[in-house]
Amino acid sequence: MKKILVLFSHPKFEKSRTNTALVNHIKGMEGVTFHDLYERYPNFHIDVEAEKELLEAHDIIIWHHPFYWYSCPPLMKQWIDLVLEFGWAYGPNGNALQSKTCLNVITTGGAREVYCSEGTNSFTVNQFLRPFEQTANLCGMQYLPPFAVMGTHKLTDEQLATYVMQYGKLIHLLQQNLTLNDFKGCFFLNDIPQLQTP
Ligand SMILES: Cc1cc2nc3c(=O)[nH]c(=O)nc-3n(C[C@H](O)[C@H](O)[C@H](O)COP(=O)(O)O)c2cc1C
Repeated sequence: MKKILVLFSHPKFEKSRTNTALVNHIKGMEGVTFHDLYERYPNFHIDVEAEKELLEAHDIIIWHHPFYWYSCPPLMKQWIDLVLEFGWAYGPNGNALQSKTCLNVITTGGAREVYCSEGTNSFTVNQFLRPFEQTANLCGMQYLPPFAVMGTHKLTDEQLATYVMQYGKLIHLLQQNLTLNDFKGCFFLNDIPQLQTP
């Protein structure tokens, strides 16, 4: 079974509805290491060596965060800036992350339809996530489409429960070797057929 590291970043987790539900579901799953960055590093002093060891011990890295100003909260960016070192994650001999898999799991206030060229946000979520995609590429990782919980402010309890169930199922699929063919042409991992049945 593949080992999954969930790097979770939420500055206001105590006030969260959506991420609390998602996290509570996947936190204790077998083969999943849940790592809450704001809990571990409230002062932003990241233990780079400890983070590298964690990365080395896992096959799949999930950047799980609410979408803040079309990106991630600041501690996640700090984590990327400090941990993905030249000569380790990329550059000459920088091959520590080669062949691992990486993806974003995000929650957005904006609904799916506002993330397109005609919508109020002008661009797709995937376009906004390009820096993450290219970061993963540069580090030799396989970057998957995002799993996105969108329109959080208007989600009913039932809709949220469906997303929660899908996130758990996705973790199982990733552990069992989801292949490139499973998400070919997919904008969101939410859309893969395996997640459409209860
Ligand atoms: C500082 C800040 C910035 C935000 N920026 C965005 C954004 O760029 N796009 C968007 O769709 N939602 C944005 N939101 C809404 C959050 O993504 C949304 O409230 C969150 O994902 C809901 O999850 P939660 O209940 O776990 O907090 C923002 C919220 C805050 C507080």
